[in-house]
Amino acid sequence: MYVAPSVLSADFGNLQRDVEEICEAGCDLVHVDVMDGHFVPNLTIGPVVVSSIAKCATKPLDIHLMVQNNTFFVELFAPLKPEYISFHIEEEKHPHRLIQKIRSYGIKPAIVLNPHTPPESVEFLLADLDMVLLMSVNPGFGGQSFIDSVIPKAKRLNALRNKINPNCLIEVDGGVSDKNIHLLKEAGVDIVVAGSYVFKHADKKEAIQSLQI
Ligand code: DX5
Ligand code: ZN
Repeated sequence: MYVAPSVLSADFGNLQRDVEEICEAGCDLVHVDVMDGHFVPNLTIGPVVVSSIAKCATKPLDIHLMVQNNTFFVELFAPLKPEYISFHIEEEKHPHRLIQKIRSYGIKPAIVLNPHTPPESVEFLLADLDMVLLMSVNPGFGGQSFIDSVIPKAKRLNALRNKINPNCLIEVDGGVSDKNIHLLKEAGVDIVVAGSYVFKHADKKEAIQSLQI
């Protein structure tokens, strides 16, 4: 299991310290939550701060867009060369076109599904995707409780991607901890995002390793 700590739970007064700490502690990716105050009722960071994160991160960035105008934000973040850019299918009229655009920058495209969105909604996009991110909380805030229905949903998505595109990874975001990591692993999940669990832990290395099962 790969682990992507979410910097949303970092101390923004000591962002460089916290980003360096999770990278040194052995995380696999650095998860960056971009919120615009429209798609979700919260506002986070833009390209100025994300470029500072990119400079001090020694692990690749996993940018999660929670915004209304996806194309605008993809163009804004593409020069930072993240490993992944993921966008919400609920907010995109032309997901296939946007996948191609992200890939044209040499970035891996990913689609995010809110808790209510069925895994079959990406069936005809799976062949072109590098990752599907399943939200296990409602997007917008760190520190929420894990929504259990993501487990059967991940199992259904796992069956679908094994059939259509086994190279497409499954990521889960929200409320992830050592309490649900084994269920996620069994369901076929490849990457977990963990914000509060990692950042509230006194020993970040121990926290990250407890999820890398
Ligand atoms: C929520 C974000 C998550 C969040 C996860 O909208 O997408 O990445 O930071 O935080 P925890 O792990 O605390 O639920
Ligand atoms: Zn996220």
